[in-house]
Amino acid sequence: MIEFILNNETVRTDLSPGMTLLDYVRYEANLRGTKIGCREGDCGACTVLLGSIRDQKLKYISATSCLTPLANVHGMHVVTIEGLNTEGGLNKVQKAFVDCSGTQCGFCTPGFVTSLCGYALNCENANAMDAVGSMDGNICRCTGYKSIERAAAVVADQLQEKDHNLPLKWLAGEEFIPAWFEDIPERLGQFSAELPVSGEKAIGGGTDLFVHHQDVLQEAPLKFLFGKKDLTGIEFSDTECIIHASSTAADLIDNARLQSVFPGWHSYMKLVSSTPIRNIGTVAGNLVNASPIGDLTILLLGLNARIVLLDNEDLTRTLPLKEFYLDYKKLDKMESEIISRIIFDLPDMDSHFHFEKVCKRKYLDIASVNTAIQIRMSEGRIIKEIHCSMGGVGPIPLYLKNTVSFMTGKVLSSELIRESVDILQSEIKPISDARGSADYKRLLASQLFFSHFIELFPEEIKGEELL
Ligand SMILES: Cc1cc2nc3c(=O)[nH]c(=O)nc-3n(C[C@H](O)[C@H](O)[C@H](O)COP(=O)(O)OP(=O)(O)OC[C@H]3O[C@@H](n4cnc5c(N)ncnc54)[C@H](O)[C@@H]3O)c2cc1C
Ligand code: FES
Ligand code: FES
Repeated sequence: MIEFILNNETVRTDLSPGMTLLDYVRYEANLRGTKIGCREGDCGACTVLLGSIRDQKLKYISATSCLTPLANVHGMHVVTIEGLNTEGGLNKVQKAFVDCSGTQCGFCTPGFVTSLCGYALNCENANAMDAVGSMDGNICRCTGYKSIERAAAVVADQLQEKDHNLPLKWLAGEEFIPAWFEDIPERLGQFSAELPVSGEKAIGGGTDLFVHHQDVLQEAPLKFLFGKKDLTGIEFSDTECIIHASSTAADLIDNARLQSVFPGWHSYMKLVSSTPIRNIGTVAGNLVNASPIGDLTILLLGLNARIVLLDNEDLTRTLPLKEFYLDYKKLDKMESEIISRIIFDLPDMDSHFHFEKVCKRKYLDIASVNTAIQIRMSEGRIIKEIHCSMGGVGPIPLYLKNTVSFMTGKVLSSELIRESVDILQSEIKPISDARGSADYKRLLASQLFFSHFIELFPEEIKGEELL
């Protein structure tokens, strides 16, 4: 039985665990404020908040309910726009939208308001930029966004006084949320343990599977892995980073250690999808989805990661990620195997890492070409070790094995990079598609490869020497 709190009501249901949360909310609970736009995670009209206890605190994430199976919210607090009205009527976020004319036809408004209320619940150092950023998964066709940005700035300003010791009490007192939110941490304790893992087809956040196969999935025997304690979290040993498979892209972006180890980490991760998709899309889902342009896949290939596969008998095997992709969407993985962990070596003082992604829009878009590089230098500018990956240039996420093998052990110079790009061009096979012509992708491949070195070694490698 799936159990959760929907706004202020406890729900216990035997409905299909593969039903989307959106359908439950609208057609079973009859809460029609949550809208249906695209059903593909793009528009944010269906945004809800999912609350759970993490590190002994109640945390909320925004999520696209159209891609979220019911089983994934077991034990959580699900908040729809109806659950955000305060006892006095409109809450502070809703009032800011009214005062700043942040709504016209109103179709998108519940999604925007819900995302911004999620920000109010979670934020530690409120500021207008982050408040606007919290709505990056919401699309509006009417307002032109400026009025919505003004509403976000007003909300961020009001949140300056937020009491971080008693956030729920403060938010309820200031009419951001209704007072009954204060009972939620205790009420979440009533639920039974995790749902048992059974079923055949693994599912993480559902942000890939539910875009394509909603009807089939509703009744399919699914193996729900999202939020499972033993599959979630990021750990570090002295030399390794261990990512448990159901950790989300948001877990990666928020991780303080990864941010300090890789200086560009936050900006790289911001290029991946949108806040509500990052909140629920898992790392393993990105790897097994096997998209040739999966961002986390390219990033982890560039880090020369390895994956740990676990079968039904609890037997494990470890595989370099670069050997996982055999052909288009064909993997070295039995149907019964799941990824349990992803591991990579932490960089040392001589290591440099860089990620590049080019798409038609800077944010909330799939890459035309993406690429990551890790390079370890020794004295005398010799390349001791190098790993480089590229997406969008072949049927699989590509590890550029010929290119890196050519460069290993050589002295880094503009001439070497120019020679290497010829090898790179011989091992990629881009095709023309909606994301660009084959010629354009070849051009991007060379330019982004150059860009890695220009960004990482600005003193030694000059753009004009490469072009
Ligand atoms: C609007 C939108 C924008 C997006 N933007 C981007 C983007 O910018 N960059 C990008 O890279 N991706 C993007 N994606 C794709 C997607 O969000 C990611 O690939 C995400 O990481 C998939 O994870 P998931 O847990 O949701 O996958 P799911 O849909 O749950 O699963 C995907 C596949 O992985 C398998 N699987 C899941 N977990 C495991 C496991 N532990 N072991 C074995 N198999 C498993 C499933 O069986 C399925 O085959 C976007 C998606 C949407 C809807
Ligand atoms: S309906 Fe568009 S994101 Fe869910
Ligand atoms: S107000 Fe009409 S879509 Fe946003």
